[in-house]
Amino acid sequence: MRELNINTSFKVYDSIDELDTETKKLMQKAIKARKTAYAPYSNFSVGAALNLDNGETITGTNQENAAYPSGLCAERVAIFYAGSQFPNAKVLKLCITASPNDRDSDIPIPPCGACRQSIAEYEFKQETAIEIYFMGAKGEIYKSDSLKNLLPFMFDKNHL
Ligand code: THU
Repeated sequence: MRELNINTSFKVYDSIDELDTETKKLMQKAIKARKTAYAPYSNFSVGAALNLDNGETITGTNQENAAYPSGLCAERVAIFYAGSQFPNAKVLKLCITASPNDRDSDIPIPPCGACRQSIAEYEFKQETAIEIYFMGAKGEIYKSDSLKNLLPFMFDKNHL
């Protein structure tokens, strides 16, 4: 028997004001998008904004459905749109903000497991890391240099 330890690492920013100008702008787009989320069932709104190496910026919000599992998370709305509209572009950076609608969460809210798996696919596809920043509605922001930090032991095409 042997023990395997996997280390992951994040940077923590005190607030959006500590981000570099470009990232701050992208997070502000995610915040703006979050306010238009279609989340009448959970009352939990998520906004995502990503930038591509072709200069495009894409936002997404969670889209819920009366048949609950038919809805989709903000991150996947954004990254699937990017993948379909700009199949050859690389995703550079993804900013995520999430909060219950009745209060401004100050806890950095990470992408769910299904979104992590989906984002991972694009890192493999484009062969470069995607920087991921996530926050609540205010307060600290966590940054991961790559999706890999969020999904140790990920399943990918090499396992097929
Ligand atoms: N949600 C996201 O948009 N992204 C995540 O990573 C976690 C959850 C959405 C799905 C649903 O509309 C609401 O948040 C509550 O789970």
